[in-house]
Amino acid sequence: MRIDILTVLPQLLESPFAASIMQRAKDKGHVEIHLHNIRDYSTQKHKNVDDYQYGGGAGMVMSIEPIAACIEKLRSERNYDDIIYMTPDGEVLEQSICNQLSLGENLMILCGHYKGVDERVREHYITRELSIGSYVLSGGELAAAVLVDSVVRLIPGVLNDETSALTDSFQDNLLSPPVYTRPPEFNGWKVPEILLSGNPSKIDAWREEQALKRTKERRPDLLGE
Ligand code: 6GU
Repeated sequence: MRIDILTVLPQLLESPFAASIMQRAKDKGHVEIHLHNIRDYSTQKHKNVDDYQYGGGAGMVMSIEPIAACIEKLRSERNYDDIIYMTPDGEVLEQSICNQLSLGENLMILCGHYKGVDERVREHYITRELSIGSYVLSGGELAAAVLVDSVVRLIPGVLNDETSALTDSFQDNLLSPPVYTRPPEFNGWKVPEILLSGNPSKIDAWREEQALKRTKERRPDLLGE
């Protein structure tokens, strides 16, 4: 998969993809992430990328010209499955959307800033608008990092058996059960006996029961309740 990210703050997106699973995914050739500084596409003397909004009001709006120039250059080079705009008024990201996006070949992601982008960008270039929750971030970059992480880890080959996405919370609309490692007792706090029993079918049944209990307590909405 190839991911192109359009931003006025590329520095914000360098470290999230330079460690751990994301770096390994790049090294193994599962994903290429290309950061594009929208400012490089400004034709203005001072490389401006924003302007005052028509009709007045506080806050700058990202101009259409440099964004359009960048999108059109990229679109002339390959076809994109989606051109995504990260915005707090977008559809709220959830696992089913990550699963769907992970099947794509080329994704483009536009990060908003200031008061957002000129509406004509959204009308004419954007195919999907995503939010990562009901709170406001200073810009779309951290949201884009969340999106990319959640999608890339689903690309076949990125995770190994031990980190398999199949047992993730949300993949079956259930939260994950509690997990433990050594020692079996710490400060008198014991690991549940059943996990030490060596009985795989009993352990599976316990995990399923715990996952259901946890989901009922914490996220009944996932069970349609
Ligand atoms: Cl995608 N962008 C911004 N600026 N804030 C957000 C968001 C996105 N998702 C939640 N809050």
